[in-house]
Amino acid sequence: MEFSIKSDMPGSLHTDCVAIGVLAGEKKPVLTGMGKALDKAAHGAIQAILDKGDFSGKTGSCQFLYNLPGIPCERVLLFGLGKAEEATNGSFIKAIRAAVKAIAKTGAKEAAIALEGDSDLPARIRLATLTAADELAGKSRTTQKEKTATLKKLAFWHGSDKKRDRDAEEKALREGEAIAAGVKAARTLGDLPANQCTPVYLASAAEKLAKSYKMRCEILDEKAIRAEGMRALLAVAQGSRQPPRFIVLEYQGNPQKGKKSAAKKPLALIGKGITFDSGGISLKPPAGMDEMKFDMCGAASVLGVMEAAARLELPLHLVALIPTCENMPGGSATRPGDVVTTLSGQTVEILNTDAEGRLILCDALAYAKQFEPAAIIDVATLTGACAIALGRIPHGLFANDDALAAALLAAGKAIEDKAWRLPLWEEYQEGLESQFADLANVGGREGGAVTAACFLSRFVDKKTPWAHLDIAGTAWKTGREKGATGRPVALLCQYLLSLAEPAT
Ligand code: BES
Ligand code: MN
Ligand code: ZN
Repeated sequence: MEFSIKSDMPGSLHTDCVAIGVLAGEKKPVLTGMGKALDKAAHGAIQAILDKGDFSGKTGSCQFLYNLPGIPCERVLLFGLGKAEEATNGSFIKAIRAAVKAIAKTGAKEAAIALEGDSDLPARIRLATLTAADELAGKSRTTQKEKTATLKKLAFWHGSDKKRDRDAEEKALREGEAIAAGVKAARTLGDLPANQCTPVYLASAAEKLAKSYKMRCEILDEKAIRAEGMRALLAVAQGSRQPPRFIVLEYQGNPQKGKKSAAKKPLALIGKGITFDSGGISLKPPAGMDEMKFDMCGAASVLGVMEAAARLELPLHLVALIPTCENMPGGSATRPGDVVTTLSGQTVEILNTDAEGRLILCDALAYAKQFEPAAIIDVATLTGACAIALGRIPHGLFANDDALAAALLAAGKAIEDKAWRLPLWEEYQEGLESQFADLANVGGREGGAVTAACFLSRFVDKKTPWAHLDIAGTAWKTGREKGATGRPVALLCQYLLSLAEPAT
C-alpha cells in the first residue's frame, strides 16, 4: 500500500474513488470544506442528493455516488463523521475505518480520502494513515485461498492552502506508516499459533529485525539463562518441550544520519513472551484456552515498537528485553508450592503456576538494571482480572512515577490507543506474603491486576521510573473477530515520538 498527500483541484482529481466526510447536522447532513469544494465542481449535485435525506452522516455510515457531473472520478464515497460537537479521535477513526473498508470492497485500485482539520492536519494524517493501513492489513491466516487486495494507492486529500506545513504532513504520514508496520508485525506474531510461534521462533524474529535495521541482538539460550541466574523464568519453562529464550535487542539511534540517541541511558521495554499459557499444573479450564497463544502479545508489541522506532530512525536509545517460554504441565513442570530464587536474589513461592507472567517478568526487570535505564516500561497480558476491571477498551496502567504515567496516558489518548491508570498502593502488598519465601506469586482473587503489578514492583528499583501496561483485555479480540490487535504499539510509538521531539 502506497500512501500520499494530494491537493489537486476538485475538478482535476483523477482517482478511482474520492471519499468525502459528511457531518450529521441538526436537520440534514452537512458537507465539510472539502465536500463543499467537490460539490461546487459537481454543480451542486452532491448537495442535491443529500437534500433527499437518504444519507444521515452517522459515524461509520457510507454511501457511494456514481456518474457525478464535473468530477473525473468513477465513484464518490460519502462517509459519515457523526455530529460535529461529538467528534473525537475515536469517532474519526471509526469513520475512516468504515470508508477504507467500503473502498476496499470495490474494485478501486487507487483512492483519495478528503481530510479536514485545519487545526492539526498532521495529527489527523498520522491517525488516518495508521487506521487505513491497519484496516487493509487484515488478519494473517493459514488458509488455502488468500484474498489479495486490489487497492494499491491511498491519498489523503486536502485543498491547497498556503498556511499548510507540507513537511509536517509528510512526516506525519511516514510516522503513521511506520507505526502501522509495527502494529502489523505485532498482530502477525500474535496471531501465529503456538506450534509455530515458539520461543525459538520469537528469538529468530528478533534476530531478523536486528539484521534489517542494524540493531544489536543477543539471544540467551537455556544454558545462558541458567548461568545468568534467571531461575523464575526457568521454573515456568521447565514443563515444556520448547526451550526458553531471553531476547536482548538494542537500538541506539542512527549515528550515520546524525540521529544518534539523545540520551545515553536507555529506555527499557520489556514484553511478556509466553508462547502458550496452559496454566501449567494449575491447569486452565478448556473453554477459550486456544486464546492463550496470544500470551506473547506483550513481546510482539515490544518487537513492533522497535521496528517502528528503527524505521523512523528516532534519536533514542532503546533496549528491548523479552523473556519467552511456554507454560505447560508435565512430569518436569513446576509444582504449586515450589520455591525458586529469582535473579534479584529474592525467593518466590509459586503458589499458582498459572501466575507465570510475573515470574518471567521479574527476572527481566532484574536483568534490566545493568543497562541503568532512564525508565522501564513492561507490557504484558498479565491478568484476567485487568480485563474484568476495565473491559477491552483501555490497557491497565500502573506506574511508580506520575510524570511517566501522565506521558503514557497522553500518548494513548492522542493516537486512540488508550490506557487507564490503576493504583499501586502499598496496602496491596501484604497480599503477597509467603510463609516459606520472600514473597508468593499470587495474592487473593480480589484486585488481581493490582497484586500482580505489586509483585512486579518488588523487582524495580524505587528510583527508576517504571510503568506496567496490563494488556490482558486489549491485546486481542475474541469472538467472531478473534485476532491480535497489535496494541499497545501505537501508544508506545506515540510516546517515543514525544520523547524524540519534546513539545515546544
Ligand atoms: N495469561 C494469563 C492472563 C490472562 C487470562 C490474560 C485471560 C487474558 C485472558 C495469566 O498468565 C494468568 O493466567 N493469570 C492468572 C493469575 C491468577 C492465577 C492469579 C489469572 O488472571 O487468572
Ligand atoms: Mn497464566
Ligand atoms: Zn499468562
